Amino acid sequence: MSFKVAIVGATGNVGHEMLDILAERAFPVSEVVALASSRSIGTEVSFGDRTLKVKALEHYDFSDTDICLMSAGGAVSKEWSPKIGAQGCVVIDNSSTWRMHPDVPLVVPEVNAAAAAGFTKMNIIANPNCSTAQLVVALKPLHDRFGVKRVVVSTYQSVSGAGKEAMDELFNQTRAVFAAGEVQVKKFPKRISFNVIPHIDVFMEDGYTKEEWKMMAETKKILDPKIKLTATCVRVPVFIGHSESVNIECEKPITADEAREVLRTAPGILVIDKHEPGGYITPHEAAGEDATYISRIREDATVENGLAFWCVSDNLRKGAALNAVQIAEVLINRKLIQPRKKAA
Ligand SMILES: NC(=O)c1ccc[n+]([C@@H]2O[C@H](COP(=O)([O-])OP(=O)(O)OC[C@H]3O[C@@H](n4cnc5c(N)ncnc54)[C@H](OP(=O)(O)O)[C@@H]3O)[C@@H](O)[C@H]2O)c1
Repeated sequence: MSFKVAIVGATGNVGHEMLDILAERAFPVSEVVALASSRSIGTEVSFGDRTLKVKALEHYDFSDTDICLMSAGGAVSKEWSPKIGAQGCVVIDNSSTWRMHPDVPLVVPEVNAAAAAGFTKMNIIANPNCSTAQLVVALKPLHDRFGVKRVVVSTYQSVSGAGKEAMDELFNQTRAVFAAGEVQVKKFPKRISFNVIPHIDVFMEDGYTKEEWKMMAETKKILDPKIKLTATCVRVPVFIGHSESVNIECEKPITADEAREVLRTAPGILVIDKHEPGGYITPHEAAGEDATYISRIREDATVENGLAFWCVSDNLRKGAALNAVQIAEVLINRKLIQPRKKAA
């Protein structure tokens, strides 16, 4: 059984990863269609050892496509996802547009795969924010065993989380600093090279940013509405890989050894936690990998049943493309979708 898959945003950071991951995991495709804006018509992208010519989303007919992996930003998704879903093609969307919609499941397969079955009302499933995805993978096994009540998280987010132009901005600013050229600030509110910026997405009325609000709201929707979470989201001059410093407070007593044991056997997680220089994971090592890495696990004695840890993952993979492909695999493995076009 194989499926016709369209990738919207195939020329972007996440779209490239989606193509790679579909090929790496030998996803059962009958055909892969690369779509982007009309600016990219005819551009070539790689899918395994093949080259695909990019077509324009606006001219594409989805009536015999089974799965659309959508990664072209919120405005495109808002306009197109309902139209594509109405044509019977299941959209797995990477933007924030549909995440909190009551008829759209928000899914991280290691955490709430069963929720994917709720896609049928709109034929849309949402992928969470990149920072939320790796966080809930780490929290799920701890919550099941110790009952997580409260989370304090500070993020160190790479520039690729803001798209390919943002990566160019870090590169160009860094070059300008070394060449004594003019540092141009366009994509980020302040210079990002040799700097950190405590501001991602727009400000809300209460002083939090939308990125911080998303981590709170999405963790509740995916994992447990009773979990209290406060976040500080920070952009750092790293190309790929988001890091998080996490403190949790649990209902039950928790030791660092118990937490390490629980995390070691949990799906999607690799624990690298040696108490020596370099005995932890940094975003540089996580880039290009699928796992959510946990390091620096230790008890937090400042609260009852407290634990602190460090969590790193490739934001373009688990934070976006990999999670979307894993959702598509859930749909297939649980027989929630069938190919619309019978194989010849
Ligand atoms: N990067 C992350 O870590 C991450 C994590 C989670 C979610 N996301 C979400 O994933 C989406 C894409 O992110 P990205 O990092 O891949 O961005 P990106 O590198 O800037 O790529 C954007 C893609 O969208 C396409 N696009 C733009 N306007 C379009 C239109 N009108 N019609 C069709 N395609 C259009 C672009 O095509 P052209 O080349 O033709 O312009 C390009 O392929 C965003 O919604 C983002 O919020 C990203």
